[in-house]
Amino acid sequence: MELSSLKIIVTGAAQGMGAHFAKRLAEAGAQVAAGDVNEEGLAQVASSAQGLPGKVHTRRLDVSDEADVAAFVEWAASSMGGLNGLINNAGILRDGLLVKKDRTTGEVTKLSKAQWDAVIGVNLTGATLIARDAVAKMVNLGQRPGVVVNMSSIARHGNRGQSNYSAAKAALAANTRTWAREFAGFGVRVGAVAPGMIETPMTQGMNQKARDALVAAIPVGRVGVPEDIWLAVKFVLECDYLNGETIDVDGGLQM
Ligand SMILES: NC(=O)c1ccc[n+]([C@@H]2O[C@H](COP(=O)([O-])OP(=O)(O)OC[C@H]3O[C@@H](n4cnc5c(N)ncnc54)[C@H](O)[C@@H]3O)[C@@H](O)[C@H]2O)c1
Repeated sequence: MELSSLKIIVTGAAQGMGAHFAKRLAEAGAQVAAGDVNEEGLAQVASSAQGLPGKVHTRRLDVSDEADVAAFVEWAASSMGGLNGLINNAGILRDGLLVKKDRTTGEVTKLSKAQWDAVIGVNLTGATLIARDAVAKMVNLGQRPGVVVNMSSIARHGNRGQSNYSAAKAALAANTRTWAREFAGFGVRVGAVAPGMIETPMTQGMNQKARDALVAAIPVGRVGVPEDIWLAVKFVLECDYLNGETIDVDGGLQM
């Protein structure tokens, strides 16, 4: 699909990769409906997109809230005059080992159910709710072709300390294929991008020692930037022959 023909929802668009995608899309002439729980960040993204060929419309969105998602999708389609795309990008981390033993005290602690539920609620249930409602809207509007881009993660292959996050991101990669098969009859393609370590507010809190060790393990020798991931997202959006695949973009970390 041509980027300029997109009327596309971007979730988690207030900062980091989502904000970058929204801006790049508006530069290319797309209509963007940007949603996030962070309204202040959304306002900044909208103002930085002023004067670009496309437009960034903004509204608060909590992807884990079913009613909020339904209302957002309705608003997005009416603000943009249609809907033919979704970048399913909102995500959170609540890292922790499933079982941990303190080296000094010997105390055994467990990952809390709250940590599990929070990540599954946003990264998996939330991503599923908005994919469901956005595609239902495209079908109701008779809008085809359409495209969905899921943001998975290299953690989909399994990562220590990320049971909740890995499970959600692996499920999103699996459902990229499930949905590609289910939505083909509606003319909607589905693809996913699975980033490695990317420089965004999500990763800025990482301690320097862990960060240095990780960088040393990345064959291209650096942490990624949002533009690296945009190039892959753009490929999924534009390449009408890409369907059902998850593309790892990690500087070679996983190979
Ligand atoms: N940064 C990385 O290294 C990395 C690596 C692999 C995958 N990812 C994934 O890429 C996506 C974007 O990550 P990022 O690094 O830009 O993160 P980020 O934390 O900088 O941005 C995520 C955005 O999602 C929003 N958000 C959180 N909960 C939400 C909810 N319930 N409803 C709507 N919005 C919500 C946040 O407010 C934030 O603006 C996420 O899905 C993340 O898991 C990131």
